[in-house]
Amino acid sequence: MSNYESEISRRRTFAIISHPDAGKTTLTEKFLLYGGAIAQAGAVKGKKNARAATSDWMEIEKQRGISVTSSVMQFQYEGFCINILDTPGHQDFSEDTYRTLMAADSAVMVIDAAKGVEAQTRKLFKVCAMRDIPIFTFINKMDREARDPFELCEELEHELGIETYPVNWPIGCGKEFQGVYDRSRGEIIHFTSNGGSKAATATQVRLDDPGLDGLIGQRLRQQLADDIELLDGAAAEFNLDRVRHGKLSPVFFGSALTNFGVEPFLEEFLRMTTAPLPRQAGELTVDRMDSAFSAFVFKIQANMNKAHRDRIAFLRVVSGRFDADQEVYHVQGGKKIRLSRPQQLMAAEREIIEEAYAGDIIGVFDPGIFSIGDTLCAPGKNFRFDPIPTFAPEHFRRVRSLDTMKRKQFLKGMEQIAQEGAIQIFKTPYTGMEEVIVGVVGTLQFDVLEYRLKNEYNVELYMEGLPYEYLRWITAEDGESVKEEDLILGTDVKLVEDYKGNQLLLFGSQWAVGWTQERNPKLSFHEFGGAAL
Ligand code: G4P
Repeated sequence: MSNYESEISRRRTFAIISHPDAGKTTLTEKFLLYGGAIAQAGAVKGKKNARAATSDWMEIEKQRGISVTSSVMQFQYEGFCINILDTPGHQDFSEDTYRTLMAADSAVMVIDAAKGVEAQTRKLFKVCAMRDIPIFTFINKMDREARDPFELCEELEHELGIETYPVNWPIGCGKEFQGVYDRSRGEIIHFTSNGGSKAATATQVRLDDPGLDGLIGQRLRQQLADDIELLDGAAAEFNLDRVRHGKLSPVFFGSALTNFGVEPFLEEFLRMTTAPLPRQAGELTVDRMDSAFSAFVFKIQANMNKAHRDRIAFLRVVSGRFDADQEVYHVQGGKKIRLSRPQQLMAAEREIIEEAYAGDIIGVFDPGIFSIGDTLCAPGKNFRFDPIPTFAPEHFRRVRSLDTMKRKQFLKGMEQIAQEGAIQIFKTPYTGMEEVIVGVVGTLQFDVLEYRLKNEYNVELYMEGLPYEYLRWITAEDGESVKEEDLILGTDVKLVEDYKGNQLLLFGSQWAVGWTQERNPKLSFHEFGGAAL
């Protein structure tokens, strides 16, 4: 294998997803510790504060002490070069979070053992499932009181519609937590809590070891034997091919905080997951080993440095090698360009890079030429990667400029920010451009919008909440545009258009979606826009 091939083959690019507080940050931090990318625990969590000191992040991030955008980290572990795409939770959840998943080749899903599948996990999972990427489940916080492991697996299967394969099985939980049983090795990894301190010690014991009763107690040993018998008899068989196609999720139990079960998880995960996956450009499949460079833009982050009003475009390299000295072809712009200041992120640090390979994520300076989904490829090539879908916003507001004289700046700002993908803007078929309907995935985006319009465009906004929560792109049977008078709509449904001329319906409830669909059988409803339409 050439150096080029081995560089690409050793890359693994995954997103880490969870509902807030399930332990995603803690688990990421442990991964980085193993990889030597950070020297001590707390370095990742601490970034929230540390960032406030680096003045080039958005002011709003500083004020709130949160990360508005998802971040990317690279580290090395046992010969692998690993790219982690973090997906923000809490109220800074945004469409960016979804788009980040488009750049990943697999996902690690962290579940709180006491809570099971939660709302945000469900949403993120749906986007991963849409692409059939492998999904690995880490059931965290076993050192605390947890729900029954069978029940947890059943819930994953039932709620998310994916089969599960427990790779290991917990022995007790909370104060009684004794460790996990590794099903393929037939070994117990015994957990010893260091008096509630941060790290656990693990010892390996065979299941037939006569000393086992003394170690985990007769009752738990018996329960383990019963559980394993049930699992072997009833649960899905392990099948790597199904894992790699996102049909079967390997499940691991552990405790990120006490560092129990994290390293075995990382090792198994790296063994089972795939090297960088190909991407489609219409009929063309672009493979990681294709000799020519190609990449797509999946995220644009504005104003990291307010003084320069610059933007950073994040690229996922799909094939070949990126070389900072060489020109690339920006397909949508129709121009050859040199990407300036290509950089990679390592924990909270950024460094300028000279080269990157298929699977890597790089950030480049964007003088305002890129849009989400744009393709970059080697000069001489000319193809477009399939567009990144538009995800349905869940919060809507009617927005206009307080000062009617500032209509021009208002529209410019709104369009620019919509182009970056932070918000989606809509209009009703009959209104002018004085006001727009803004849809966002997470409500923090409204604050960001207000802040940016004021600071960058000198426009104060008037915003009024709208009672819609669901959105569907609609298409008529004959491909013609839909006329409002031909539709049967309830009072809590509104017909709008996006700025590409696509038609959409906004709904006040999930129930209204069903009601409208039933009464307008000739209409097709789409949950994702863009690529899916
Ligand atoms: P998130 O990124 O998914 O939002 O979760 P995060 O890692 O920040 O973890 C949320 C809380 O859960 C943290 O506690 C963290 O210490 C705790 N936690 C994570 N993994 C485990 C685990 O395996 N066992 C136990 N018992 N707790 C765990 P916190 O009090 O909110 O923060 P901190 O004060 O510990 O930093």
